[in-house]
Amino acid sequence: MKPSVLVTGGAGYIGSHACKALDAAGYTPVAYDSLVFGHRWAVQWGPLVVGDLADTALIRKTIRDHNIGACIHFAAFTYVGESVTDPRKYFRNNVVNTLGLMDSLVEAGVKRMVFSSTCATYGDPEYMPLDETHRQHPVNPYGESKLMVERMLHWYGRAYGLGWTALRYFNASGADPEGRIGEEHDPETHLIPLVLQTALGERSHIGIFGTDYPTADGTAVRDYIHVDDLADAHVLALRHLERGGESQAFNLGTGTGHSVRAVIEAAERVTGQTVPVQLAPRREGDPAVLVAEPKRAREVLGWQPKHTDLDGIVATAWNWHQLMAEFRRLPFGKAVA
Ligand SMILES: NC(=O)c1ccc[n+]([C@@H]2O[C@H](COP(=O)([O-])OP(=O)(O)OC[C@H]3O[C@@H](n4cnc5c(N)ncnc54)[C@H](O)[C@@H]3O)[C@@H](O)[C@H]2O)c1
Repeated sequence: MKPSVLVTGGAGYIGSHACKALDAAGYTPVAYDSLVFGHRWAVQWGPLVVGDLADTALIRKTIRDHNIGACIHFAAFTYVGESVTDPRKYFRNNVVNTLGLMDSLVEAGVKRMVFSSTCATYGDPEYMPLDETHRQHPVNPYGESKLMVERMLHWYGRAYGLGWTALRYFNASGADPEGRIGEEHDPETHLIPLVLQTALGERSHIGIFGTDYPTADGTAVRDYIHVDDLADAHVLALRHLERGGESQAFNLGTGTGHSVRAVIEAAERVTGQTVPVQLAPRREGDPAVLVAEPKRAREVLGWQPKHTDLDGIVATAWNWHQLMAEFRRLPFGKAVA
């Protein structure tokens, strides 16, 4: 029988790609999602349990019913700006609910947990590229909530023998190259989907926040990592824990940065469209450059991103966004998507 993995947030963007990778690696992914932001159509590689993280009775039942041996925990609220104006929402869902999940796992004897962390736990960078030993000093409640969970994992590991990895993603991007799943956030705040929706004519322009950064073209530089490469890292992290590997954090990025202007130019090449831009001042708390040092994941997990070409990453997203635009034009499409 295939080992079952509980995937919280399995109907979301990264979680659904992880379910695909888990299935390909011989696991049964059991998606657990309230569908607050996720989509039923994104769950294609295993069962879906519709439930909230706060419902620990249902989590415990799901662990029993599906004979769960490990958990990959994606479910969280993810809007940085909202976390500043409504922090309690973030601490409750991302921290309190995660605590309930961790207790349910420990009580059921599940000893492995892979956690979706973020480069936002580092805060303002002191050097570049960022390695895992960089000081963690988040500048918003979203990053703080993720750091709190990292600390909880550390102490649960010591006290209760919970093996864990905290995967600190940089900018997740792209979509399933076969167009089965992709990024569908509402509201959308990520650069590549916003640029592509502009290319599709669904938005009038794309805002460039900050043109006076100390970067080659003055716009902010980020590390765009393809969602399938992220998904593969989760499988490798799980195998690492199965081997009894050390509980630790791993950066997941390519190690190469691309500016906002470079992303827009890539989108123009891929789509053949001109993307109108609107220049705006910098946003508070947005560093000039965020690029990963992914050496630890390469050396310890054997992880190597396959999608390293920006145009290639954007092309997978473009394929997806075109399909979704077509779908939304159908009479029932908007309601389902
Ligand atoms: N997208 C990125 O670039 C990025 C970067 C760093 C970290 N992350 C982290 O990765 C994880 C996944 O991100 P994503 O972009 O796929 O987000 P997403 O919103 O697409 O997925 C999150 C899923 O969790 C579900 N969820 C949220 N709260 C829940 C609850 N209380 N009970 C049950 N389900 C709940 C949502 O319905 C959604 O399907 C998050 O933890 C996020 O913080 C994402």
